[in-house]
Amino acid sequence: METCDSIDLNNGELIKLRLALAQAEAELERFKQPPLVVCEVKKIIDNKAIVKLANNSTFLVNILPELEGQIRERDHVLAEQRSLSIVRKLDNNIKNFAPESFRISKKPDIKWSEIGGLWSEIQELKEVVELPLKKPGLFKKIGIQPPKGVLLYGPPGCGKTLLAKALAKSTKATFIELVGSELVQKFIGEGSKLVKEVFEMARENAPSIIFIDEIDTIASHRIESGTSAEREVQRTFMQLLAEVDGFKSLDGVKIIGATNRFDILDQALIRPGRLDRLVEIGPPGPKARTEIFKIHTNGMNLKKVNSKRLVELMTGFSGADIRLVCTEAGYFAIRDKRTEVNHGDFLQAVAKVKVCEEDSTEHLKMFG
Ligand SMILES: Nc1ncnc2c1ncn2[C@@H]1O[C@H](COP(=O)(O)OP(=O)(O)OP(=O)(O)O)[C@@H](O)[C@H]1O
Ligand SMILES: [Mg+2]
Repeated sequence: METCDSIDLNNGELIKLRLALAQAEAELERFKQPPLVVCEVKKIIDNKAIVKLANNSTFLVNILPELEGQIRERDHVLAEQRSLSIVRKLDNNIKNFAPESFRISKKPDIKWSEIGGLWSEIQELKEVVELPLKKPGLFKKIGIQPPKGVLLYGPPGCGKTLLAKALAKSTKATFIELVGSELVQKFIGEGSKLVKEVFEMARENAPSIIFIDEIDTIASHRIESGTSAEREVQRTFMQLLAEVDGFKSLDGVKIIGATNRFDILDQALIRPGRLDRLVEIGPPGPKARTEIFKIHTNGMNLKKVNSKRLVELMTGFSGADIRLVCTEAGYFAIRDKRTEVNHGDFLQAVAKVKVCEEDSTEHLKMFG
């Protein structure tokens, strides 16, 4: 009888627990209901993730406990709309999510004046990319071969993509943007074909700039060729090298690669005659931070803001962090029902962004 009683008791508990579980599962299902936001994981910090949305904004979000340990950097995930909590990982076969195989645009809308700091880097890119596209005759006359491409490398959020877009605008070149991780994840089996098509298109629409973001995902020396997916990545990379080798430096096509993982890059990519001009895009110094802060506060309604002090406090921040501080400061003012953003708002915003920043310093250290 004793066992019976205890079974009854356990049953009672079990029913309660099952009810709670059913409720939790129903709640979970509700969170999984569409529309969910597609985003890309940039970094994992403990059981949280920094994700990037299609509009380029980044957030620190929670990962659903059941997904803990399963989410990696560069994964594409679905996030709940309001909290942006990650509720589902997208499997690799997400071809259907690709709205188009690559982005092509005539006019990215970034002006040089929207970039703070990076003075010598801009100068170098103008000489290496802009001038040969604008005045190929000059190089022919002098008899020198400008580089076919450049590699921008450095920590996240410091202006690599921004620079590529500004270059495309200033040269009025056709701008074709490829993202390495998308080549690998979305176009399974088609990566090398796509690379071929992109170069064809670039030649037809010259002058063109082919911008390959996250180039390390297809050009990493760590990729082994064990699985068929890895072999496909290798094929894509080989095709890229063949295409780069196959055109002349004054054909009106320039390649810009960008990576924040210079350490894992296959040296074949940066051999002479390929992307052999390396340009480091490092974190901004004090003068550059001042400029970036000015750019991002330009349209803001500020009141008694000591920008000199704020720039000091933002030591170690990337351009993207500085932009985030400005947005956050604006939100602090909104929460306080003000339309003017004051120094206190910025101080709170700096503190908030710093928490994220400190978690990322490990990453920055890799670049000295
Ligand atoms: N030097 C800068 N001047 C002005 N704004 C900047 C600068 N650097 C970064 N930003 C801001 O941060 C955003 C992100 O920068 P960007 O996309 O160029 O970084 P990235 O170096 O390409 O990073 P990732 O390695 O993550 O791709 C920009 O859209 C811009 O708003
Ligand atoms: Mg970028």
